[in-house]
Amino acid sequence: MKKLLFSAFLILVLSATIISCNDKDYTKDKAGEETKSMDPAADLWSRISGYQNWSHWPGKQPFYKGTEPHGFLLSTYLNEPAYKALTGGSAELPYGSIVIKENYKPDKTLAAVTVMERIKGYNPDAGDWYWAKYKADGSLHTKEVDGKAMKLAGKVGGCIGCHTASTSGVKYIMTPK
Ligand code: HEC
Repeated sequence: MKKLLFSAFLILVLSATIISCNDKDYTKDKAGEETKSMDPAADLWSRISGYQNWSHWPGKQPFYKGTEPHGFLLSTYLNEPAYKALTGGSAELPYGSIVIKENYKPDKTLAAVTVMERIKGYNPDAGDWYWAKYKADGSLHTKEVDGKAMKLAGKVGGCIGCHTASTSGVKYIMTPK
């Protein structure tokens, strides 16, 4: 009987330890995720690292002559899903697409890196695109609204307002074909 009681006690202690360990891991994961989702712009910047090796917009060379407002010289890069859809003649780019435009001054200094990423459910009213305007070092450009510096990332009204023109023939995409 004593032996049985001892075994029961042992099982109790063991399961309590397992539960508390799981708890710990859970909190850790959750905290990790929260940090990530708190700064989606930094997350996107790290995910596009090395984009200079991606495909250029079909038929466009690096530093092609730009149109307003993006800059004097432009280089436009597409990730794999975006490139496939564009060269395949799709009317819109699929979820997971990322398009990056480097905006250069006439002396070829990099003034901005503008990025669009299509995320399912992110903003159904405007094609589900996430917008960001980075400086060369990965920090965000800002725009003054009511005396406050607003970071240009997320559902940026200015980007959306112009890009709805879809001048390329592909929804929300503007680069002339
Ligand atoms: C006044 C209009 C206008 C505004 C505002 C604007 N864009 Fe654009 N965008 C364009 C045009 C025009 C092009 C094509 C430029 C070219 O290749 O000649 C373009 C191209 C792009 C591209 C390449 C993919 C594509 O659509 O062809 C990205 C990425 C981009 N813009 C991001 C942004 C972001 C991010 C913002 C907001 C911070 C923004 N744009 C604001 C007009 C605009």
